[in-house]
Amino acid sequence: MTSLIYLTFITFANLCLISAETPETLSSKFNQLTPKNSTGLPLVPVNPIDALLDQKAAITDVEQQEKELDELVAESQLDSPIPIPVVNYLEPYTIHSFTIPQNGHPPLTKSRLSFIQSQLREIIFEDRIAHVVRIIFHDCVGGCDGCLNRDLPPNMTPMLNTATLLDNLYDSQGFSDWLSRADFYALAGITAIEIGVENANVGCFFFNCIRMPRFHFRYGRKDCATSPLSSGVQSFPEGKDDYDAVMEFFANEFGLRPRYATALLGAHTLGGAAGAAGSGFVGFWKENAIEAAKFDQRYFSLLSDRRLYWNHLDVSAQTGANSPRFQWEGFVNNQQVSFMLNSDVSLLLDIQTNNVGQSSCNFNTCPYSPTALLVHIYARFPNFWIRDFERAFARMIENGSTWLLAV
Ligand code: HEM
Repeated sequence: MTSLIYLTFITFANLCLISAETPETLSSKFNQLTPKNSTGLPLVPVNPIDALLDQKAAITDVEQQEKELDELVAESQLDSPIPIPVVNYLEPYTIHSFTIPQNGHPPLTKSRLSFIQSQLREIIFEDRIAHVVRIIFHDCVGGCDGCLNRDLPPNMTPMLNTATLLDNLYDSQGFSDWLSRADFYALAGITAIEIGVENANVGCFFFNCIRMPRFHFRYGRKDCATSPLSSGVQSFPEGKDDYDAVMEFFANEFGLRPRYATALLGAHTLGGAAGAAGSGFVGFWKENAIEAAKFDQRYFSLLSDRRLYWNHLDVSAQTGANSPRFQWEGFVNNQQVSFMLNSDVSLLLDIQTNNVGQSSCNFNTCPYSPTALLVHIYARFPNFWIRDFERAFARMIENGSTWLLAV
């Protein structure tokens, strides 16, 4: 009897402890993670963003939800106009029914397109999904032209092995009869994203599945004279870049507004940095190689997840890079779950960096950057992100073309 009373007392005391301690501990943890100014006051109220997005999440009508999210983004002025280069489209069968399209290629029919995609699917899997998406990004800087300078450091990463595989497929199958190499890389990019979405959707139920992006592939890009090789020198953005540098790059190169630049950078949900074999940064944006082959919104979720704590450190000694490589590593319970470049973090936080990319503020102290709201929205509403990504990606893969043909 005595032991029963004792047991009841202990259980009751424990329950009191839990109920008294849990909210306080949680809220103090939450406050620690909230960006603050020098006097310790939260700089940007976090709860209002979440509360606002909770309201939007409660809307059951998908179209209405999308409309309200659009309005929210419009209010934040991330959509301020930057001139977007115009790409004109020819419909080969309706307008020029028997015209041979530019580049002298016979028309690319839907069945030929499916055949090429089926061949691409044979070689694009696992880490090659990410390689291919990066290849098309790099090919389209300066205009998509089917050429990569293999001696340019930003290109000298494991993606070059995949570029060789793509080239072998293109050359051995005689695909040059139907489309240019630049077109082929673009189609490979689309196929890679589709495979990434399929990977992300394994075991999903319809309410938490990622919507398959709808890309309207067009062709007629012009290859450079030395395709696939090139000695051209493009300037690529760097991992140490801050918000202004990132946004300036996307505006100048692809005519993308901050909204679409943010959506496009969501491609970093795939793959990672290859350390000594690549950029000198190292890690997967998501937990591991399996997650890194899924095209989902978790790049944004991890970035905006306040349960993570982040270290900002120089990994150049570890990777043998010849100059500092400051990167962010996100942990939960002492387990690393994410890695981010400054350019990624700048989408959420207005990091303050010096010339080697070291930030003087961190996840607790940096104020939000102008696109922070978008990062939260994309994390909570994956299909809203997919819609913006579709537009941004389509823009990127048609960079430099003035006339393209619909299939
Ligand atoms: C501010 C702009 C960007 C910066 C600073 C940046 C930087 C980097 C760096 C440093 C890496 C690691 C390379 C390595 O070590 O192997 C990387 C990988 C990657 N990037 Fe970006 N990137 C940017 C934009 C983009 C865009 C627009 C895309 C595609 C739409 C993209 C797709 C990828 C992918 C998929 C990988 C993983 C590659 C792999 O796993 O092999 N990036 N990026």
